[in-house]
Amino acid sequence: MIKRNRRLRDNCAIRSLVRETILSPNDFVYPIFVVEGENIKEEINSLPNNFHYSVDKLGELIEEVIGLGIKGILLFGIPDYKDECASSAFHKDGIVQRAIRKIKELAPELLVITDVCMCQYTSHGHCGVVKNGRILNDESMEYASQIALSHALAGADMIAPSNMMDGRVKYIRSILDENEFTHVSIMSYSAKYSSSFYGPFREAAGSAPQFGDRKTYQMDPANVREALRELENDYSEGVDILMVKPALPYLDVIRLGRDRFNLPIAAYQVSGEYSMIKAGAKLGYINEKAIAMESLLSIKRAGADLIITYYALDACKWLREEV
Ligand code: PBG
Repeated sequence: MIKRNRRLRDNCAIRSLVRETILSPNDFVYPIFVVEGENIKEEINSLPNNFHYSVDKLGELIEEVIGLGIKGILLFGIPDYKDECASSAFHKDGIVQRAIRKIKELAPELLVITDVCMCQYTSHGHCGVVKNGRILNDESMEYASQIALSHALAGADMIAPSNMMDGRVKYIRSILDENEFTHVSIMSYSAKYSSSFYGPFREAAGSAPQFGDRKTYQMDPANVREALRELENDYSEGVDILMVKPALPYLDVIRLGRDRFNLPIAAYQVSGEYSMIKAGAKLGYINEKAIAMESLLSIKRAGADLIITYYALDACKWLREEV
């Protein structure tokens, strides 16, 4: 007898009934870039249809985000002032701290997640403190902890350390708990690879390293057992959500994370993944909506519970069109 799998593909109704993975606005976190200044909404060259916003212009965007049913945003700050130790990253009135307060005022129910890293704020563009050409671990974590605390004090709901220093969750959990922020959660960029897919982001955030690369702290794209060690470390230090980044080129890592840990897995569809689709569509080689939605679906099918994506707004609009 022939096994006729095509029976369950015969028409739209049966395909809908047996569909295993379904995207919804609840899956998406939207990254937002805030800049100093006033009255700024400027399209980011390397990330078409994403914008640099000054704090006073966030209202319009937040209204759109909420209207589309998105539950969380991830904040990145682009400061005017940089120095060796990223001091503007933990200033009480720094760009991110002001943006957090503004968003919480506009939409208290929207989950505000903040990226904790030094690279946008350091003169050398590295994610930590540099001494004799090395990126110091524990010293960098002292600063990262201060950044995390300043975000919590401003009202952040969730802290997302992306610096790939060892012990990041332990350090940040301790400083939050010591300061009565036991309710603030941590989503760690646990398996963050040293990836060329971050190129467009570094242009958007002005965070490219001024010497060397990030290979002494971000992971080697060739390794997967190492990713499991990173996930295990963050898990044992009490992380709330584990992240794998980038997403589509690392679906195997997402799947392994999903199978091994009973914690939510976040996947970051990074700037290069986004901009390649944009560029391909602009050249007329691919159908943007179809490719973007298939990528997001595949990331979810691989095991991601939430997806950080520059496509969040478009994806929600496209999902509405389908109904
Ligand atoms: C900061 C940070 C980066 C990204 C998120 N947080 C850049 C990097 O590590 O160089 C990349 C996001 C993207 O490419 O969309 N460390």
